[in-house]
Amino acid sequence: MSNTQDIINATEDYVKALLTGEGSGHDWWHIYRVWHNAKAIAAHEQADLFVVELAALLHDVGDHKFHNGDETVGPRMAQQWLESLKVAPENIASICLIIKELSYKGAGTSSAMSSLEGCIVQDADRLDAIGAIGIARTFAYGGHKNREMYNPEIMPELHDTFEAYKASTAPTINHFYEKLLLLKDRMHTRTAKEIAQQRHQFMESFLAQFYAEWDALR
Ligand code: ADP
Ligand code: NI
Repeated sequence: MSNTQDIINATEDYVKALLTGEGSGHDWWHIYRVWHNAKAIAAHEQADLFVVELAALLHDVGDHKFHNGDETVGPRMAQQWLESLKVAPENIASICLIIKELSYKGAGTSSAMSSLEGCIVQDADRLDAIGAIGIARTFAYGGHKNREMYNPEIMPELHDTFEAYKASTAPTINHFYEKLLLLKDRMHTRTAKEIAQQRHQFMESFLAQFYAEWDALR
């Protein structure tokens, strides 16, 4: 395939077929939101939109969270798919590097991106992790993994390594402290920083209300 729009359309269909109905907050509509967030952010940046769109569409295909922590599955699946469409090797390399670097790896770790396109897709993915949608996804994920919703006896941990972060089975509320509330200060682009501000405040109010209801128990 040589027409860029045809490649994007075929990739949309491929990802939709793979992820429709997924129950942990990584379903097709997550990909759809990240794709659209990424396009909105890219409108303010001088980025290669073809690379941004394909990386956004393919970023959670083969995610380590669903392959026993194996981080090589995602980039490999994306590479095979893009090769089958005859996408230029330099574009495939850029897209697969973005997918490899994208994931959050724990509070005390870095998840630096080596390209502007990567920064845009990471910001777009992280916007979908915060705010009302982020809260909904987080509880969906916790339920999917059989986690407790909240346990006041288990304190959040700020993980220093990706291994420790991946091994955690803590209650879902802890994830707010281990990741979600840290994201607004880790956005790269001005567009994402602005959107993140309001979504962050909404999570703070959600938590305040949650504890107020809990503390009213007698
Ligand atoms: P990342 O690659 O940064 O992990 P994803 O798009 O794969 O981003 O989705 C991460 C989302 O999955 C989180 O924002 C959260 O909603 C959910 N999630 C991941 N780990 C946990 C966890 N331990 N507890 C609750 N939710 C989680
Ligand atoms: Ni994602």
